Amino acid sequence: MSVRQHIVFLTGAGISAESGLCTFRDPDGLWRQVDPLELCTASALHENPEKVLAFYNQRRRELLSARPNEAHRIVAELERIHDVTVITQNVDDLHERAGSREVIHLHGELTKVTSSRSRLNLSCIKDFPLARPILPGDLAADGSQLRPAVLFFDEYPTFVSEQAARLCREADVFVVVGTSLSVGVAPDLVHLARKDVPRYLIDPDDFSGRIPDGFIHLREKAVEGMRLFRKEAENGFPSFTRFMDGKAD
Ligand code: OAD
Repeated sequence: MSVRQHIVFLTGAGISAESGLCTFRDPDGLWRQVDPLELCTASALHENPEKVLAFYNQRRRELLSARPNEAHRIVAELERIHDVTVITQNVDDLHERAGSREVIHLHGELTKVTSSRSRLNLSCIKDFPLARPILPGDLAADGSQLRPAVLFFDEYPTFVSEQAARLCREADVFVVVGTSLSVGVAPDLVHLARKDVPRYLIDPDDFSGRIPDGFIHLREKAVEGMRLFRKEAENGFPSFTRFMDGKAD
């Protein structure tokens, strides 16, 4: 295996948990506290903009005080020895703040706003300071109500899914961190990574039956799991080599 590899990370809420941001489906997760169908749909925004915007403003405030953790930082630091792409389901910007240069957001970004009439209209998507609430009456360039540039439950993922699929197929090393693989395209992406390349899963949960065979499961929280993975990446992925040798016996 040549020294410099293209590592593709697929990350979810678990990588930001140690930064103090809630996951969704864990026992203390956000979707155990609120019903996403009441707050995270385009129809809810249309019917009750105050309530939906207040929910997202609260999440934007939480993000303002959150900081990248060591797991985000290790992902970014690996760019020194490998090529790294991050595909994330997270709407936070902690990968970027940690220094990652190539981050694909499958579910949008809390730091941006867009048009509620035409969310993919590029001329309406813009940065919006996290400290500033999005208010009913704030208008996009097309005159419609501003909304957070995140994917709602009654919307389809965008073209970035195709880009993500291509990257997963081409990865020299594929690493899944902190996602239950429950929704959207993420459960399909893990099947696209090649079976003859090192594939790792970092998540404290049991994944029996939820991940294809051949993934090396580091059953740790993100920070400890990424410390272990960094050693793998620095040493030529020894766990994968041992795994492949074992298979050959
Ligand atoms: P989930 O809440 O579904 O899953 C979180 C995963 O993180 C679980 O597998 C946990 O075991 C794991 N986890 C918890 N704490 C961790 C830690 N400290 N370190 C590492 N892993 C940890 O979150 P996602 O899979 O990211 O979409 O959810 C995917 C999407 O569902 C979200 O992007 C969001 C939600 O609906 C939208 O809002 C469109």
